Amino acid sequence: MLSSKQEGILLTTGLNRDRRRILPITEIEHSAFCKTEDELPSKPLVEEFNVNIRWQQIPVEYLHLTADELDIRIGEARAKLGDEVIILGHHYQREEVIKYADLQGDSYLLSKYAASHSQSKYIVFCGVHFMAETARTLCSDSQQVILPNITAGCSMADMAPTEDVLDAWDDLKQILDEDESIVPITYMNSTAEIKALCGRNNGIVCTSSNAAAVMRWAFERGRRILFMPDQHLGRNTGIALGIGLDEMIVWNPFKPLGGHTPEEIRNSKIILWQGHCSVHTRFTVRQINSARERHPGINVIVHPECTMETVQAADINGSTETIIKSINESAPGSKWAVGTEISLVNRLAKNNPDKTIFCLDPVVCPCSTMYRIHPAYLSWVLDRLVEGEVVNEIKVSSETKKYANIALQRMLEVTSASN
Ligand code: 13P
Ligand code: SF4
Repeated sequence: MLSSKQEGILLTTGLNRDRRRILPITEIEHSAFCKTEDELPSKPLVEEFNVNIRWQQIPVEYLHLTADELDIRIGEARAKLGDEVIILGHHYQREEVIKYADLQGDSYLLSKYAASHSQSKYIVFCGVHFMAETARTLCSDSQQVILPNITAGCSMADMAPTEDVLDAWDDLKQILDEDESIVPITYMNSTAEIKALCGRNNGIVCTSSNAAAVMRWAFERGRRILFMPDQHLGRNTGIALGIGLDEMIVWNPFKPLGGHTPEEIRNSKIILWQGHCSVHTRFTVRQINSARERHPGINVIVHPECTMETVQAADINGSTETIIKSINESAPGSKWAVGTEISLVNRLAKNNPDKTIFCLDPVVCPCSTMYRIHPAYLSWVLDRLVEGEVVNEIKVSSETKKYANIALQRMLEVTSASN
């Protein structure tokens, strides 16, 4: 039997919200580039267009250029633009793009760099949409941030659309009394609007390298956490902090009250948004066992966006920076099976020829949104800048920027206090 308060809650929850909820298109397209050969050389864009995903249309002249021709064009445009432009490259970018990056890094490092380089008028962000938005949020108003291909989103970030999160937040506020406070945490891999929601509601942003410190901070301020959008990072971090699986529930945005009773919600310590990374959830315990059988003594290192079972079966789990550091600093001759994006794994193998390094997944599946930054797009945005035109500028409203910044600054404070 429902109490009258519970009935009132149900009346105002997803039960009578008739918005059509569908899987993000980036999730449907996530295996677009999967193949079985090891190499991933860039082909002229017109050939890559054969992969059936949404691509941004750009002038025809860029479609037929080979990687070598694009190389020359990009080099010329860069030389003309000088210090006006900085190019930032996320570790998951393809080789033909990352070679132009003034700085390579994870999403956190790149955004911090953008914020501290106010002398560069244009920031060309070779990564995905939420990263460019974060750079936009942190850098000064006199700078402009450009994402070379506007369709380069992130399927995980797309799993937490603003309306669904606002609905969930309203539901939670109705169910939980003041003294049963809840702190929203959003992973960096989310839109600026979700970061702003956290900023407005005493919440915070985290990355995969500081999620534990951020969760501790949140538990000092509230009895429970809403963790968005990656259920796996949230669960793996909760377990590392000693939270039981029975104290964590998964919020399914497709169901009223996330699929829970008010009592289940009140009894939870962490409410995990039902989102995931399509790349990292491909890594399995079976792949780990197979790597260990084939290479006794091998080190298995995975990203915490992998499932709990995979993280627990691995020897080490950590952010992209942790993975890079662990492998680069390991002894010559050591062996590594790696559970993260293939472009980074291939680069680690190339830069550490004295070690055995391979991807856990035998199928080569680059992140299909990161992979959309083809060098032709980079060439196009730089050429337009040479002509004085800014294309694909990423904008964030001043209101969203203000509150997203609050949540990001809280994270920076927590991170510097815990280091
Ligand atoms: P980083 O936070 O390590 O940059 O990772 C971002 C990401 O998209 C991982 O899948
Ligand atoms: Fe998003 Fe996963 Fe790609 Fe990272 S690897 S950008 S989380 S889809």
